[in-house]
Amino acid sequence: MNVGVPKEIKDNEYRVALTPGSVGMLVREGMEVLVQCGAGEGSGFPDSEYRLSGATLLRDASAVWERAGMIMKVKEPQPSEYAYLRKDMILFTYLHLAAEYELTLALLNAGTTSIAYETVQLDNGALPLLMPMSEVAGRMSVQVVAHYLEKENGGRGKLLGGVPGVRQADVVVLGGGIVGSNAARMALGMGAHVTIIDTNLDRLRYLEEVLHGHLTTLGSNHQNIEDSVRHADGVIGSVLIPGAKAPVIVSREMVASMKPGSVIADVAIDQGGCVETSKPTKHSDPVYQIHGVIHYCVTNMPGAVPRTSTYALNNATLPYALRIAKAGLKQALCGEASLARGVNTLEGRLTSRAVGETHSLDYVPLSKMMG
Ligand SMILES: NC(=O)c1ccc[n+]([C@@H]2O[C@H](COP(=O)([O-])OP(=O)(O)OC[C@H]3O[C@@H](n4cnc5c(N)ncnc54)[C@H](O)[C@@H]3O)[C@@H](O)[C@H]2O)c1
Repeated sequence: MNVGVPKEIKDNEYRVALTPGSVGMLVREGMEVLVQCGAGEGSGFPDSEYRLSGATLLRDASAVWERAGMIMKVKEPQPSEYAYLRKDMILFTYLHLAAEYELTLALLNAGTTSIAYETVQLDNGALPLLMPMSEVAGRMSVQVVAHYLEKENGGRGKLLGGVPGVRQADVVVLGGGIVGSNAARMALGMGAHVTIIDTNLDRLRYLEEVLHGHLTTLGSNHQNIEDSVRHADGVIGSVLIPGAKAPVIVSREMVASMKPGSVIADVAIDQGGCVETSKPTKHSDPVYQIHGVIHYCVTNMPGAVPRTSTYALNNATLPYALRIAKAGLKQALCGEASLARGVNTLEGRLTSRAVGETHSLDYVPLSKMMG
């Protein structure tokens, strides 16, 4: 099977679906890998590295799309790419079809088989191809808080770790999942006092066992959130209820009670945000202030560190790509339930119940189509 990697064309997207190292792995397994010239530039991978890894470099996106049996991307196809979709093609990328009605129709009309990174799911419910981006965003959120706490950047001029004889900063992490635990680890490493608030007591038990430093864990309720947020220098919003809009657990009044120059990084903003005063921002204009509190609400935080994010994504996607390319799609799906859960469309039929219900479209469960 030929694997194609077009250059990402979504605004401000610098990641690439395969690193030169991943290309090398596919080539060693006997695949031809077609990479569009310049595809890796944003992540710091020049064409020469892909050539050395055995890729075939093609100048035009159209040539990559036309010759590849499986297209690997990072972001969903943009409208100008819909014309490349075809029946005998597998598309493996982040898709978020519930928010993409036109793209859903384009995939169905073209008969393309699509596997969405974000819906590949292990038996225990974990989302292995989303997790690396949560790890990146969680770790980055602490850098963001530290940066905006500096006076020069509008903050109250407080160092996260303090110094001997001077109190460290208070960082409150709302939701101790993947984003939250990575944020907590970074903040503790920088010497901050960290409070993690979660509804899941088993998760708090686990975090208390594995994290070391100035750590407090609290059950999630209005009183605990109100008290913690009021004293916080930095608040990191990282709650998630899978498949639902983020619950708003920090009210406008709580934000107003915070000290001027404190910082909120609402990482959960891609699900609507968990702070009442949050609204989505971009890397080009990442912050705004309400009640003197700095709000950072960038919806695609990993985009700021494409080199790390591309490697992290590849670590997770490559094993699946190898299985599909080696065994063929049907065989790979039969042997791998997690991958089968990722299939959103198969040969012109919608297989995702969630997408079908969102867009009022007919869907057929994959198990029925595979017999
Ligand atoms: N902005 C970005 O660039 C970016 C990047 C990656 C992830 N995210 C988002 O970050 C959010 C968190 O992702 P994750 O992977 O850590 O999810 P996760 O499922 O691993 O963790 C979510 C945690 O929130 C807890 N929670 C749920 N309701 C709560 C409540 N009312 N109070 C306190 N805790 C509550 C859950 O128990 C869980 O521990 C998601 O919305 C995800 O989409 C954003």
